[in-house]
Amino acid sequence: MDTDPWARFRGAGVGFRLTSRAMRVVDLDRDMSDVIPTGTTRDSEFLFERMTRATLDATRPAPGRRILDVASGFGQDAIALRASSGADVIGAEPSARMMAWTRFKSGETEGPLPEWVRGWGDALPFADDCFDGAFCKGALDHFDQPLEAIGEMARVTRPGGRVVLAIANFDSFSCRAARCADDVREGAFGAEVARGRRHYDVPADHFTRYELGLMREQASRHVVLEEVIGISMAWGFPFWTRAVQALPDALADRILTFLDGAARKLPGLADVIVLAGRPREDSD
Ligand SMILES: C[S@@+](CC[C@H](N)C(=O)[O-])C[C@H]1O[C@@H](n2cnc3c(N)ncnc32)[C@H](O)[C@@H]1O
Repeated sequence: MDTDPWARFRGAGVGFRLTSRAMRVVDLDRDMSDVIPTGTTRDSEFLFERMTRATLDATRPAPGRRILDVASGFGQDAIALRASSGADVIGAEPSARMMAWTRFKSGETEGPLPEWVRGWGDALPFADDCFDGAFCKGALDHFDQPLEAIGEMARVTRPGGRVVLAIANFDSFSCRAARCADDVREGAFGAEVARGRRHYDVPADHFTRYELGLMREQASRHVVLEEVIGISMAWGFPFWTRAVQALPDALADRILTFLDGAARKLPGLADVIVLAGRPREDSD
C-alpha cells in the first residue's frame, strides 16, 4: 500500500478523504479528553484502567499471537499489550498528528515495540485472516464509516480469532439520571439551562451516539458476539467525581469496584461497553 496516501493533508486537524462518491470530511486529531478525561481523577483513572484491561484481555494475547490495534491513537495500548503479553502487535492509525505522538512515545519506551502503520479503519491495509485478534478502543464513534470498519476488523481476523470493540455508552445510568435531573430542574422548576456540553451530550467530533443496542446490532453484522462486558457505573454524574475524590482511598475503591460489578451485570447502564467475539463466517 501507499504508506502515506494522505501526506498532502498532513497537519490539518480535519482530514479530507477523496472517494469515488464524494469528498468526506473525517475527524483525525482527537483524543479522549472531550469524552472522558484520562486519569485526572480517581473515578476517571478507575474507568480507564478497567476499560483498557478488559479490552486488552479480551483479545486473548499471548506470545507470538498477532494483534491489531485499530485507531491506535497515541499508541499507549499497543505498547502496553506488546510489553505485557509478548504478542506481536501492530497499531493502525490514519492521523499524522497521532502518529507523531506515537513515535515520540515509542522513543521513550524500552524493549520490543509494536509496528506502526498509517491506515483507515474502514480500509485496513492487511490481507484477510492475518491477525489472531483486532481491537478498537474508544474510537468507533469518531469514524465516519464504523460499520465498514467493524467489517474490516472481522475480515483481517482469522476464523476463531477475536474482534474486540470498546465504546462509551451514552445511555448509561449516569447519562440517563443526569439528563432526567436536568429535565426536572430546568423543565419543572424553571432553572436556568446550563451552558456548554454536558457529559451526556454527544461531542461534536463524534459521528455516532452509541449505546448497547446500536453497538450490539452493528457488531453482530460481522461478529458472533461471545462477551458483552459493562465497565464502571456513575462516571460523570454531577458531584460524583468530587464525592469519590473526598472519600478515604479504601472506601472509594470499594464503591467503584461494587459499581463496576453492577455494570458487569447490567452492561446497558455501564459507562463503557466492551464487546468481543469471533468473525462471522458469513460476514461480507
Ligand atoms: C479518541 S481517539 C482513541 C485512540 C485510542 N484507541 C485510545 O484508546 O486512546 C480516536 C482515534 O480515532 C482515529 N480515527 C478517526 N477516524 C478514523 C477512521 N475512519 N479510521 C481509523 N481511525 C480513525 C483518530 O485519529 C484518533 O486517533
